[in-house]
Amino acid sequence: MADVSVIGAQWGDEGKGKLVDWLSAKADVVVRFQGGHNAGHTLVIDGKVYKLSLLPSGIVRDGKVSIIGNGVVVDPWALAAEIKKLKGQGVHITPVNLLIAENAPLILPLHGELDTIREGAAKDADKIGTTKRGIGPAYEDKVGRRAIRIIDLAHPETLAAKVNVLLNHHNALRRGLGVAEIAADELLAQLKEISKEVLPFAAPVWKVLHDAKKAGKRILFEGAQGVLLDVDHGTYPFVTSSNTVAGQAAAGSGLGPDAIDYVLGIVKAYTTRVGEGPFPTEDQGPDGQMLGERGHEFGTVTGRQRRCGWFDAVLVRQTLKVSGVSGVALTKLDVLDGFEKLKVCTGYKIGDVVYDYFPAGQDAQAKVEPIYEEMDGWSGSTAGARSWADLPAEAVKYVRRIEELLECPIALVSTSPEREDVILMKDPFEG
Ligand code: GDP
Ligand code: IMO
Ligand code: MG
Repeated sequence: MADVSVIGAQWGDEGKGKLVDWLSAKADVVVRFQGGHNAGHTLVIDGKVYKLSLLPSGIVRDGKVSIIGNGVVVDPWALAAEIKKLKGQGVHITPVNLLIAENAPLILPLHGELDTIREGAAKDADKIGTTKRGIGPAYEDKVGRRAIRIIDLAHPETLAAKVNVLLNHHNALRRGLGVAEIAADELLAQLKEISKEVLPFAAPVWKVLHDAKKAGKRILFEGAQGVLLDVDHGTYPFVTSSNTVAGQAAAGSGLGPDAIDYVLGIVKAYTTRVGEGPFPTEDQGPDGQMLGERGHEFGTVTGRQRRCGWFDAVLVRQTLKVSGVSGVALTKLDVLDGFEKLKVCTGYKIGDVVYDYFPAGQDAQAKVEPIYEEMDGWSGSTAGARSWADLPAEAVKYVRRIEELLECPIALVSTSPEREDVILMKDPFEG
């Protein structure tokens, strides 16, 4: 039986949460391995809506173990609030079914503040359009070797020393930015208060995962964001601050690279992006507007309107490769119902130069013009379809053409927000 890693293959919001929830029926353990509460994963189960940011999407099913791995940046206040909200919706969350890596770094209020100040101060062309959750500053402190980690909350003496080191850095920054400095005793008091809420979940999750693997349990890795937001492979600098590719699932949870047998790339049947940065197939006309309205393309975390456009096969072919994707789950096909014509980007050009990949330079990424192929839409409905036979012929043609352009098999198609509305061609757990 294969272990499966789910990753977003565009700019996030591809429908990872729905697919992870659906797949978790067959998994024992669900693990988040990067990102933080910048993620917004929406699950719809019998009409009831659950919105998750930090908790793995397996949390809503009883009998599963949900794990927040060391690759995640954890805001303990956001985590406590999310646990409380989910418990209010009847979800069962205890230190038995939720574990957090002891070595995961924390996001502190000063990180969110710094994120917000930087975004506010940046000139329009330099804004990233972050979620202002402090993700970037927290990862900076992690690689800068001054982060406070979950386990530090359990050791007051080391915590005080670490807070001093951290504040030496941040107060210097804050002085430069003209904002009030932070007193160590105030931050320590805040941390002491919140530690009661998170420490009960702290565990050596690398060990738990190894034991689970040895016992033959099935592990499902849940990626956040998407490969085009990856700090190495994405549209840098308009990216998030973590590696979102499948390779990170091992490093971000404490397992070796052999832990991941099958990589499922989640791909939306069109394209969206929240925040700033290049988007070659963006459509700011009526078609883009229609995609946004039909797809309810508003951010789960910030409520921002998502930018919308046509399917970009060049970008996705590239992200599937850099992430080693084994098969694709094509989502939101139903949003295309009723479009007379559909466009698919099959190449780019800058002047007379044609590209079959996305050039790396920021200037080139802003300049590329998409080369489109036009396809017939369909008048029938795909909404809620659970078998190929339910799809109009043109929809089948669209899916098959995308598969061909991506050079990767399509394993699943999702046709509504509801948990069970999935067409299954190949079960990822069967490898
Ligand atoms: P994630 O960040 O990748 O988990 O995706 P989000 O949850 O942020 O955004 C996807 C949105 O599309 C959510 O509101 C889902 O409920 C919804 N969704 C997921 N799959 C489908 C689908 O196949 N069809 C439609 N119409 N909506 C879907
Ligand atoms: P899910 O998991 C879509 C985007 C932000 C911004 C950039 C950097 O729901 O797919 P950050 O706050 O991470 O420093 O912002 O990344 N971004 C997302 N866009 N879906 C997400 O997560 C995102 N998480 C971050 O909009 O452009
Ligand atoms: Mg999302």
